[in-house]
Amino acid sequence: CYPHEHKTRAGAYRGTIVHSLELGVVQLILDGLIIVNASGRIAACYDLDNLPDDVTLSAEELVESFEANLTDLRGKLILPGFVDGHAHAPQYAFTGTGMDLPLLQWLEKYTFPCESNFQDVAFARDVYTKAVTRHLRSGTTTCSYFATIHVDACKVLVDVVRRAGQRAYVGKVSMDRNSPDYLIETTEDAMRDAELFAKFVLSTNTEAGAGAGGSGEGIANKMKQLQLKDGAEAGFVPSCTAQLMQKLGDISEAYSLPVQSHLSESPGEIAWVRELHPECDTYMGVYDRYGLLHERSYFAHCVHCTGEERELMSLKGGAVIHCPSSNFMLGSGVANVKRYIRDGCKVGLGTDVAGGYSSSILDCLRQALIASRVCSFGHGLEPGEAACDALTFQEGFHLATQGGAEALGLGHLVGNFTPGKEFDALVVDVRSIKQLDPSGVAQQVPNAAQAGAGGVAAAPETTPEHASAPFHMFPGQGMQEAFEKFLFLGDDRNIAQVYVGGVRVV
Ligand code: GUN
Ligand code: FE
Repeated sequence: CYPHEHKTRAGAYRGTIVHSLELGVVQLILDGLIIVNASGRIAACYDLDNLPDDVTLSAEELVESFEANLTDLRGKLILPGFVDGHAHAPQYAFTGTGMDLPLLQWLEKYTFPCESNFQDVAFARDVYTKAVTRHLRSGTTTCSYFATIHVDACKVLVDVVRRAGQRAYVGKVSMDRNSPDYLIETTEDAMRDAELFAKFVLSTNTEAGAGAGGSGEGIANKMKQLQLKDGAEAGFVPSCTAQLMQKLGDISEAYSLPVQSHLSESPGEIAWVRELHPECDTYMGVYDRYGLLHERSYFAHCVHCTGEERELMSLKGGAVIHCPSSNFMLGSGVANVKRYIRDGCKVGLGTDVAGGYSSSILDCLRQALIASRVCSFGHGLEPGEAACDALTFQEGFHLATQGGAEALGLGHLVGNFTPGKEFDALVVDVRSIKQLDPSGVAQQVPNAAQAGAGGVAAAPETTPEHASAPFHMFPGQGMQEAFEKFLFLGDDRNIAQVYVGGVRVV
């Protein structure tokens, strides 16, 4: 039984709510109240200064009705949890190093040797625990992880994610060609293990819910979230035979599973795919031919897709996971996300650890803004194409939350605070900082500047105790500025609490 299973989900949270309802539209509710039911779902999201007519209580009466179940977060921001659409959990072992080579050489020199260590489950547990902890503490409440080809270590990652209480997809990598002899599967083993792992995750999802007893529905809900994502996580097309890709496509259809893979990341890789698959017109066409392009598919990078590929992706309902940090550091190129949005593709963000060096979606969001700015200058335009405007920070925030949720097929479940969704949230304190004690556990620094008992969402102040916070607030700056500063300058020191499905996990 997992540590978060029996925790309380019901509650009410009062603070400044900021969330994105659609691309470019950010709603800020200065004095907001989110009511969460026993299943961890949002029952209501109110503006206390402007309650709807069907609420007969006054704002104060409503707040008081929750008594001990009220969490008073006035003076703090309540944001939806971040969605990371693409991260390699094993590669956390070398994140922040090895940033000197292009993709194919980088895979050979750093990635494959590192991933081969995951046949050792004790090593896997250590790295996976650190990776998941880091992502969660950085505010990622939903993460799509790649593991490795090793089924036992894949199961360890599932266990670690469940212990941490994160919402995740975990995918077993399939590699049966063009891979080093120390990190390759036979086609038969790869086909069998992909299905075996899919069945393992699906059966333990429901078993954990049914077997826990007691508090029933909430637990079932919680465990159902932890589905497997598997499928074409071929690493990419060059490391997967057509026979294996077809099998992965069949599995994704039979079990209604999501598919994640890499697409059109670097020029060398694209040329290789063209050589390997003369039967297909394009790289996107390879995934399509083998049943791996549908409305549950999402593809990391998409730096160099042609108009024809974008059209196919849009038609089939696939999504782009934009990984700017990795695209810059591996020298892959600059993906033009506005172009994908214009052409009707879903778009989310991915850290792509360890091609990207940071586990934080905040870092990813900042680099997405810069990448888009570069494209707005005219970089990489197709003949006759007009440059798109650069992403705004409001649009970037959407991609980091609701957009990412939609890309992963979870837009109905998380991404903002629409009633009916699960309460996945960050509490952002722009005044306080956390210090790490020697065990690496974050401790809250006592905060002298709590909002006064009667005060309503006062503008945050910086006091001498908070001198080492990553930014300062100045007189006249309020919660809108606090939100912007957090997006551009904040980090996990500002993330005071994290909730997944109504359960506090950080
Ligand atoms: N293509 C195949 N495998 C990988 C990987 O691990 N990282 C990235 N960025 N691209 C890949
Ligand atoms: Fe990747």
